[in-house]
Amino acid sequence: MNPHSTPAQQPDQPTDRPKERQRDRWRGHPLFARMYARTAPAMERGGVNEHRRALLAGVSGRVLEVGAGTGANFAHYPPQVTGVVAVEPEPYLRRLASDAAAAVPVPVTVTDGRAEHLPAGDHTFDAVVVCLMLCSVPDREAALAEMFRVLKPGGQLHVFEHVRAESPRCAGCNGPWTPPSGRC
Ligand SMILES: C[S@@+](CC[C@H](N)C(=O)[O-])C[C@H]1O[C@@H](n2cnc3c(N)ncnc32)[C@H](O)[C@@H]1O
Repeated sequence: MNPHSTPAQQPDQPTDRPKERQRDRWRGHPLFARMYARTAPAMERGGVNEHRRALLAGVSGRVLEVGAGTGANFAHYPPQVTGVVAVEPEPYLRRLASDAAAAVPVPVTVTDGRAEHLPAGDHTFDAVVVCLMLCSVPDREAALAEMFRVLKPGGQLHVFEHVRAESPRCAGCNGPWTPPSGRC
């Protein structure tokens, strides 16, 4: 049986497995969550907004967004999207995402959950959206397996991610930035 095939509606349980422990640390990143929410508007003005628009321009049908953060993508979903389930594990960001959901025309339901155990049945979404999120996930293979599990046959995975900085000016931030940012 596929270990990820059960809908993860049950509450998250603490666990002894190392990767699970790393995931649990996300519950303890309120500082990064607040910092991210504060810096987000400047990021959007700096060009991220345009990437979001391009990422979501062709999306349609039922959509699952993983790690929705403040809900910055919600306003960019086109009218062809019939509904979005937005998964966000961090409570502060989840509240902001719920506020953002209330302000957009496309129906968005914000819910607790994690990429590694998506709260959705097999083959239930036309598209999965993942945006600036995979860097925070210790077990990316499990996360990607989950995304493909919930996609319908022929469904689309829309990805906008970033990589480690290589320029000498920014590369020095990679190390010190990683722990307080939850691995970002
Ligand atoms: C850098 S923020 C990006 C937020 C949003 N996607 C955006 O584009 O602005 C990373 C997000 O991933 C979420 N996240 C971290 N670990 C996660 C996990 N295991 N599953 C789902 N989301 C996760 C964080 O709570 C945070 O909202």
